[in-house]
Amino acid sequence: MLALLSPKTNQFDNPYHNFEPEMTGDEYYDFMVWHRGLAIPRARNLNDPDVQKGKRLFTDMGCATCHRPSWTTGDDNYWTPAMNGTKPLPRYANQTIWPYSDFIQHRLWMKNDIHGTWCRTTPLWGRGLSALNTGRSDRLHDCRARNVVEAIMWHGFSKESDAYSSAEKFYNLSKEERDAVVKFIDSI
Ligand code: HEC
Repeated sequence: MLALLSPKTNQFDNPYHNFEPEMTGDEYYDFMVWHRGLAIPRARNLNDPDVQKGKRLFTDMGCATCHRPSWTTGDDNYWTPAMNGTKPLPRYANQTIWPYSDFIQHRLWMKNDIHGTWCRTTPLWGRGLSALNTGRSDRLHDCRARNVVEAIMWHGFSKESDAYSSAEKFYNLSKEERDAVVKFIDSI
């Protein structure tokens, strides 16, 4: 049988696929330049006292150990794909970014979990705009949470969860404090 994923298989001409590329090499290069330069939506309302309070609580509850606020990126020494010829792509070295993630997988032991329960910390930046942009605010890898509060409570579904004590601290906050945490998350 034809191995579709083999690098030796012609992806554009085989019994399963027989189509013309939609882009020329130059168009694809332009696409990559555009894509590389895409920015994350900027954070909003950071001076709002509730947002600042939410940020303090977020740190105090241990959320920031996994949702690490900030990183400085490296030298951006990627290889230049051969198809680019002499045209290098733009590089963005040593950028300070605020993704609110450690980009590491943890075990939250949710019900019906994936990958033997390992899941990467979702970067929280930009996610607060999803309700505005799409009308939906579903969260978590399988959209099981309808909003931020549900997403946080899933962190504590099992006592074995790496985030159990953080979720418990959130649960024990006052309503006003929980609202501040959500407002902070929706602002970044
Ligand atoms: C042990 C690491 C860890 C800690 C501590 C932690 N989280 Fe998470 N968080 C994760 C992981 C992993 C996911 C992705 C889970 C998934 O998608 O199923 C996640 C997902 C989320 C999401 C959903 C993101 C999205 O858009 O889908 C929110 C919101 C969130 N965390 C907030 C918090 C808050 C608030 C706290 C503190 C009370 C916290 N987290 C503590 C690891 C952690």
